[in-house]
Amino acid sequence: MSLPVIQDSSGTQEDPLDLMDEIDVLKKERDVSILAHFYVDGEIQDIADYTGDSLKLARDATQVKTSGILFAGVHFMGESTKIMNPEKRVLIPDLQAGCSLAESCPPDQLAAFQQQLRDQGRDFHTVAYINTSAAVKSLVDWIVTSGNAREIIERVPQDKEILFVPDQHLGRYLMEVTGRKMILWPGSCMVHEVFSIQDLIRMKKRHPESVVMAHPECPQNILEITDVIGGTEKMRRHVMATESPTTFLVATEGTMIHPLEKAAPQHNYIPVPGIMTSSGETCACNRCPHMSLNTLQKVRDCLKNDGPEIEWQDYFATAREVLDRSLLQ
Ligand code: 13P
Ligand code: SF4
Repeated sequence: MSLPVIQDSSGTQEDPLDLMDEIDVLKKERDVSILAHFYVDGEIQDIADYTGDSLKLARDATQVKTSGILFAGVHFMGESTKIMNPEKRVLIPDLQAGCSLAESCPPDQLAAFQQQLRDQGRDFHTVAYINTSAAVKSLVDWIVTSGNAREIIERVPQDKEILFVPDQHLGRYLMEVTGRKMILWPGSCMVHEVFSIQDLIRMKKRHPESVVMAHPECPQNILEITDVIGGTEKMRRHVMATESPTTFLVATEGTMIHPLEKAAPQHNYIPVPGIMTSSGETCACNRCPHMSLNTLQKVRDCLKNDGPEIEWQDYFATAREVLDRSLLQ
């Protein structure tokens, strides 16, 4: 494999293989384990100690033996890691790596809406997708990931209404599979929301034998013509369990092709492109701009500088109870 030479912010060229070697030495020196989500660059996944979806990584983080964890992902993932491992140093390569879903649900707006519902005499539980800030997590009853959402919804008592935040598409899909009615917050993932149904139909015509796999963060029109709906770990397991070579049309963040190819190289994976809402043109915008802020240089620098680090906040303690109950029990 030959990787392109990378330029750092000062314009200096750095060889990715040298960076990988440097990271390997530094993480041992600093007693840090690297966790990487399936949406960060393949080379970061390749040097990580643990890779996975949000659920697996949250659980893996509680098993780590080193005193520090570097989370290559986005800010809410670093926060959840710190919440569940308060005694450890939790480093993230770029503090600016946010998430459109987390941003769509500010804690003050959620608290005001919950109060409005209570004032109307509504008896409800709030269920939050893990793609939310820690401040939001401290306001809710349950946390779900794409990997355990169905199971958690089934734990909400039947006599309670459900307020689901912030992903309207995942919420709508969960209403369909669980039969529970929900009040949906109007948030969405900027990557999954732009998948073009026209492109997908065109691709399906070109590859009539193909299997469509889509993340439940995709809108309903995409899920309606999808064969396998699931989070990233479910997709990985599905391709591993499929023996005969198959063409998969993959409607999720573009980097997901990397772990799929690694896990089941016998298949052909075609990423579904997105559509630019401004011009209507098809583009390769299936990369999450937040996840792609993680680079090998930033991972190296973060280990070298022992930061940026997620600092413990008072409200993390309340969020911890919810995360433990939802993800570990
Ligand atoms: P999962 O990997 O848990 O399916 O999450 C997808 C996602 O959008 C993470 O930001
Ligand atoms: Fe958030 Fe979507 Fe990026 Fe995941 S892919 S971090 S949900 S914006």
